[in-house]
Amino acid sequence: MCGIIGITSNKPVSASIINSLRKLEYRGYDSAGIATLSNGFINEVKTEGRVDKLEKNVSLKNLEGVVGIGHVRWATHGVPNTVNAHPHSSENVSVVHNGIIENSTLLKKYLLNKGYKFKSQTDTEVIVHLISENLKELNLVDAITKTLKQLIGSFALGIIFKDEPDLIVGARRGSPLAVGYGPNENYLGSDSYALKSMTNKITYLDDGEFCIIKKDQTEFFNEKGVKVNKKVLELSSNEENYGKGDYKHFMAKEIEEQPTTIKNCIKEYIDNANKEINIYNFPWDIKDISSITLIGCGTAYHSCLMAKYWFEELTSLDVNIDIASEFRYRKNRFKKDGLYIFVSQSGETADTYAALELCNKNDLKTCSVVNVVESSIARDSNFVLPIHCGPEIGVASTKAFLGQLMVLYLLALKIGNLDKTLSLDIYKDKITSIQKLPKLINETLSFDNKVQIISKTFNEAKGSMFLGRGFSFPIALEGALKLKELSYVHAEGYPAGEMKHGPLALIEEGMPVVVLAPRDNYYRKTISNMQEVIARGAKVLLITNKSKDEVIPENIWETIEVESADDDLLPFLLTIPLQKLAYYSALNNGYDIDKPRNLAKSVTVE
Ligand code: M6R
Repeated sequence: MCGIIGITSNKPVSASIINSLRKLEYRGYDSAGIATLSNGFINEVKTEGRVDKLEKNVSLKNLEGVVGIGHVRWATHGVPNTVNAHPHSSENVSVVHNGIIENSTLLKKYLLNKGYKFKSQTDTEVIVHLISENLKELNLVDAITKTLKQLIGSFALGIIFKDEPDLIVGARRGSPLAVGYGPNENYLGSDSYALKSMTNKITYLDDGEFCIIKKDQTEFFNEKGVKVNKKVLELSSNEENYGKGDYKHFMAKEIEEQPTTIKNCIKEYIDNANKEINIYNFPWDIKDISSITLIGCGTAYHSCLMAKYWFEELTSLDVNIDIASEFRYRKNRFKKDGLYIFVSQSGETADTYAALELCNKNDLKTCSVVNVVESSIARDSNFVLPIHCGPEIGVASTKAFLGQLMVLYLLALKIGNLDKTLSLDIYKDKITSIQKLPKLINETLSFDNKVQIISKTFNEAKGSMFLGRGFSFPIALEGALKLKELSYVHAEGYPAGEMKHGPLALIEEGMPVVVLAPRDNYYRKTISNMQEVIARGAKVLLITNKSKDEVIPENIWETIEVESADDDLLPFLLTIPLQKLAYYSALNNGYDIDKPRNLAKSVTVE
């Protein structure tokens, strides 16, 4: 959460900083700011709101300088306004910060006693004054080392100094930070996505490290202030021009891209000629694994829940799932013969990363399912399974969700084949069915007009429910999350069979209820639950798959029939109308679909 950029160059940097902030805006967009060094002063421009507004203010002020830092914010301490926007600057030091300083209240007291004045409500401002205080007696490296030691919490920092006109300091604990190398200039960025348009040569800081970058030199230090050597990595540069194309929103584009992204993902893992799933370099013998634990947050957690159903059906493994923010603080019974799988689109989610670190510390087998292969979670897990979806920019996860499902499904099939839960014939048949999925997804994308009309009822209602059983239950949760996230109306996902244990009391005349009832083993049971909500006045949108045999029951408000596929694969198809429902509900109200209020794409605070 929040985005940092820093550039030290031989030419003015403010325009490049603004461009990079635009790329980083998916990480936070409630306020933005920039500070540069010029004519011996720190010059700062900040604004509440978006980077577009910042750009106007920067050009009004004609901000000069060849060294600068910029920030887009997702507020943690202090309301999102101009004063609380980063950078936070004194006369001598200016800081941009991602993360949270947990001992900021204590530090503030200490600094107030020393006579420092505070302008904002943020936790970040203490860093500015702490550095100034330490610089009174120490050189730059020692002052930074001491300051970082005094901070409790997680952070990525970018710092400039009035008296060091050619350099930027970067520091990392918990939140990711990268250094990029360019011709006569070097960069600091909170992720490689922001740096990719300028360079593909990158060094990631490890936890506890800091760096000093000048236009032609970079130095790295460990937490004791001792110099360390770091590797320069070369990133693939083919994703840097990802744009909206002819679409109004990234989300719309990312929904429509799903047939292609799933096809790409399948191509990476399936050898079609031999009907085989290849998971190259899997570092463990499957005989040494008796359980798996899948961990994620939000939509990625829903992928884990979906995977639980598949792994239990297709393998003989014991399967657990967990929400990362709970897992990281619980007294877990770690299993040495367990495989721990971390699911994350961004690969930077703080809670998921902390859960991974915990497992690494306990010497467990760790594997990640990520979209961003250069991410912290990917780098620090023993084994990585990329989902090959390309950048996902819309805050609402769509194509990455289907990508995560696909990789987890393929892994379940492969393990089921290896541990002999699946016969060879069934395994090969399932691989044949997967090949048809991109086409089926494509055909399921055609409900726009109908969904757009239906979506208005969801906007007008006090709330709605999403119900499903078995494979459809995780999709019901995901449908409800998408609707809340984008259209700001209350939506609840529930197992259809649980309604009578409490939530049925919420049903009243005209309440929209989405019932996911594909013609699978659960169909009849779900339909009975559906009748129970209809009997209490609900307006039911039934989402099922096409079938010649089953007649659609009566008294249903609306029905959407997706294409038919193997039961295992229906969750992919059921997801599509739910993504569109959320999209159109937000569109009806003119909300910012790619940047919903209060949220950010990459959640790097816990
Ligand atoms: O990057 P991650 O997959 O780790 O992100 C996890 C969640 O923050 C994310 O899925 C979130 O729930 C989405 N905005 C939902 O659309």
